[in-house]
Amino acid sequence: MSEFPKAFKWGGAIAANQVEGSHDQDGKGPSISDVVKRVRPEDRRSMKLPFPSHDEIQEALLDTNHAEYPKRRGIDFYNRYKEDLALFKELGFDVLRISISWPRIFPQGDEMEPNEAGLQFYEDLFEEMHKQGIEPVVTLSHYETPIHLVLEYGGWKNRELVAFFERYSRTVMARFKDHVAYWITFNEINSMFMSPYIGAALTPDDAPEATRQQDIYQAAHHQFLANAAAVKAKKELIPEGQIGCMVIGMINYPSSPHPEDVRQAMEDQRRTYFFTDVMARGHYPAYSRRWFEEAGAAPEMEPGDEAFLAEHPVDYIALSYYMSAVSARPETEGEKAAGNLMSGLKNPYLEASDWGWQIDPSGLRTLVNQMYDRYEKPLFIVENGLGAFDEVEEDGTIQDPYRVDYLREHLQQLKAAAADGVDLIGYTAWGPIDLISFSTSEMSKRYGFIYVDQDDDGNGSLERRRKDSFYWYQKVIETNGEHLDRS
Ligand code: BG6
Repeated sequence: MSEFPKAFKWGGAIAANQVEGSHDQDGKGPSISDVVKRVRPEDRRSMKLPFPSHDEIQEALLDTNHAEYPKRRGIDFYNRYKEDLALFKELGFDVLRISISWPRIFPQGDEMEPNEAGLQFYEDLFEEMHKQGIEPVVTLSHYETPIHLVLEYGGWKNRELVAFFERYSRTVMARFKDHVAYWITFNEINSMFMSPYIGAALTPDDAPEATRQQDIYQAAHHQFLANAAAVKAKKELIPEGQIGCMVIGMINYPSSPHPEDVRQAMEDQRRTYFFTDVMARGHYPAYSRRWFEEAGAAPEMEPGDEAFLAEHPVDYIALSYYMSAVSARPETEGEKAAGNLMSGLKNPYLEASDWGWQIDPSGLRTLVNQMYDRYEKPLFIVENGLGAFDEVEEDGTIQDPYRVDYLREHLQQLKAAAADGVDLIGYTAWGPIDLISFSTSEMSKRYGFIYVDQDDDGNGSLERRRKDSFYWYQKVIETNGEHLDRS
């Protein structure tokens, strides 16, 4: 019978920009997420991610109609984290994945000295986690590049950001070395291929369509260097710790056995593997040379860059997993599926969520097997979950069997992957408490085991309530995943 490893880490994952709120408190500077407007319900499946110009960013910075920018308010985790951690403890969490907001520590990103109030907030948070017996897993950059680095430096295509990121990483590692053993560098680093703004802090200003590919490859190279610099810093400052990279875990199926569909699926799969290939194996994969040639765009490298990447590969690979995609030859017609960053054609064998994301538990097993075959490094599933509408019943209960079904089916497949021999560190369900959606900034897209009383306009008491899935996940953790039945 398959089972999860004894030391398997169970928990949940949140991100500063989606939960903290208090966007301008205690010296915090604005981040790329603070200037992103909410998406209207009619556009929720459109995948129209922001790619704002400098003028639009300036306008947003001056806009004090905060209701339009829900990430500025989050779910008030900044003030309520003690209450929330107590609920996570009740769930039985071993770990909580959080992110540090870079502009809380370096409000503009390019300062020499950090903001003490920002450091103090995270120190208090880690101490409280310690009291509750919950280990932090910390992402250094979860869509939180300081906006000043976009406006003044042009985002990640500028090599200066590598040094700024290194300073930031070293500052927080030195300060929290006794609190944090597990680190992650960039959240979903491959997002820059689909959203250059979110993933690489690029805007259309200096990058008309023709040169965009060059900027994206350049930004990727700089984030690879920044990743390697953080790995080096971790080795020096926290030798016992572990540091990983993180990607959107996507599996691409061919739409048919036609050899060209199969080849297209391989090409699309490489859009994820490109990133893990560099950060886990320490070198650019052979196929990327052809990409660069075909695009007439290649990252500029300085002498020593490639040796530096080779010297500092990550210890483990973290991934999010929500759906799979179907790939086909370019001329193929077919209905498109939805997603927040990646998607493909509709898969006739799969059901979809209320937001049109295709649900594919079995794909998780296949993907982690493929990744483990390729890298032979431990894998950490740091996001997985179902965004759904929840109803509060008259008696105050929230019955969410759809969420339980989604999660248990994915966990069954993950358990099977453990039996296949895949080395799994743990599983942190995305949004264990309802939070602001990354892609649409809606509140009504809920992932949590804990309901938060707040609507899309920001109305509500912010009261936290346990959903039915809360008791289910509690039992899953208590039994180390042995209990995966519905009730
Ligand atoms: C991942 C992000 O892409 O998906 C999270 O790392 C995000 O930040 C999650 O919230 C779910 O996406 P969404 O758009 O439903 O919030």
